[in-house]
Amino acid sequence: MAYPIAILSCIIAFPLCWLIRATILKKDETRKLPAQDCASPPRLLNQRPLGIDRLEQIFRANNEYRLMELFLFHFRLWGTTLEQVFLGTHAFGTIEPRNLEAILSTNFKDWSMGPRRRVMFPFFGDGIFTQEGEDWKASRDLLRPQFVHKQYEDLEVFRKTVDNFLEALSGEKVVDLQPLVFRLTLDVTTSFLFGESVNSLRETSSSDQGNFSNAFNIAQDFVAKRMRLQDLYWLVGGRKFEEACKTVHNFADTIIQRGLSRDKTEGGGQDRYVLLDFLAHNSPDRTALRSQIINILVAGRDTTACLISWSIFLLVRHPHAMQKLKMEIQSCLGDKVDICRSDLRQMKYLQNIINETLRLYPSVPVNSRTATRDTILPTGGGPDLDQPVFVPKGTAVAYSVYSMHRRPDLYGMDAELFRPDRWEEHMPLHENPTNSKWGYLPFNGGPRTCLGMDFGMAEAAYTLVRLVQKFPDMGLPPSTKVELVGVEKQTMTLVLSITEGCLVQLYQ
Ligand code: HEM
Repeated sequence: MAYPIAILSCIIAFPLCWLIRATILKKDETRKLPAQDCASPPRLLNQRPLGIDRLEQIFRANNEYRLMELFLFHFRLWGTTLEQVFLGTHAFGTIEPRNLEAILSTNFKDWSMGPRRRVMFPFFGDGIFTQEGEDWKASRDLLRPQFVHKQYEDLEVFRKTVDNFLEALSGEKVVDLQPLVFRLTLDVTTSFLFGESVNSLRETSSSDQGNFSNAFNIAQDFVAKRMRLQDLYWLVGGRKFEEACKTVHNFADTIIQRGLSRDKTEGGGQDRYVLLDFLAHNSPDRTALRSQIINILVAGRDTTACLISWSIFLLVRHPHAMQKLKMEIQSCLGDKVDICRSDLRQMKYLQNIINETLRLYPSVPVNSRTATRDTILPTGGGPDLDQPVFVPKGTAVAYSVYSMHRRPDLYGMDAELFRPDRWEEHMPLHENPTNSKWGYLPFNGGPRTCLGMDFGMAEAAYTLVRLVQKFPDMGLPPSTKVELVGVEKQTMTLVLSITEGCLVQLYQ
């Protein structure tokens, strides 16, 4: 089906890629269902030879910035697990909680990350995001204890950067918050990792810092494009990509060196937790240290930036929700800006807003895994769509949490609406323990669950509170076209961002 090709790669740019794959498919990959009760799920029908029409459809949807809408449409039309044969290659897509449980948890060992490592390696190097098996486990065991509340309980790691963010907004009337939010999360994450921020929000930041931010964006864009090409990732690269990776690596090396030689006994020292200090003692060499740092930087920056941007985007389009949030902030904090974690925990409505934003706009809306051996998806096949589906070794399965989070049978008939209050109510999702656990997955699930979930949520909550406190009357600029949720243009790279930005009117 088109999903893995499209979802995995997001946009299929080169049919050639799949033609090559189809040609080199070995004979033993012919699909034969095993003797158990497996059955095929609905298969997307190709109208033109080799499924070229699918390619056109995906190109068109991508050019119109509505790829997620297309995927959603197919799942709605055919079922929650689908198959497609495209240019001779079989692949599956699913939005079924039971299947996600099997892929991400119960049958974890049957699945790999596919070509991710090869695609990302020049930029990411060898780190938690690109590793598998024992290497990944070692990184995970090393890093997991470092993401505990106490490292940022006082919110100090966010404070200075959010001050800079708010300062950058003063004097502005109408502003696109999205690019500034991306800078904010870069500054926060570098601050957490290195003990010093790259200060991309400050105009006074050095040219090295500016070069780093630019190079970081360029390298990320290349990686996203390479992901789209999957096995033909090597077609995208070249000097510009190499130079961007080198700039990021050199800058990271410098800042690592500076961080490690910091005098921690005198004024140059600091009492705040710095991940770099810990990792330095636990990495075999500088290259390994740098790679691990870059992996976390990439994992933490765009995801959180998207969450914050979409939250604001939704709030200014839902004045009732904005009003309710303002009232909660006022009753919990008054004008206090010296907020700590326990203040944020009290704010249930704020939490509901964040949950609802991640439901409708999960930062990583589609993901995929590849079968490392013959395996099954527990459900989705046969006439009643409830029989197991056989997945042969080497086959990709894409899963779209964006589409799953919009299922009316899980979230109710108003699943398409932004309604934070639903998180206080009973939802169909909760009628079944598997759906309850695997039907809401903005941070993935199982052994590879996001390590920065709590950090990202705290960062988003704190930023939103400070923003609303400073600009309580913030709203949509006059004459902005308001569309239905999900109909606005969306840009899909490794994450889902707002194509036309997050324009707001600030009343100073
Ligand atoms: C709202 C914010 C965030 C969202 C929605 C999010 C989402 C995700 C998702 C979906 C994955 C799984 C990716 C995959 O398996 O393909 C992931 C993994 C990961 N995330 Fe996050 N993330 C967020 C913030 C952060 C932050 C702030 C950090 C660190 C500072 C972080 C660190 C990681 C790491 C290290 C992994 C890899 C875990 C592993 O493979 O074992 N994330 N995240």
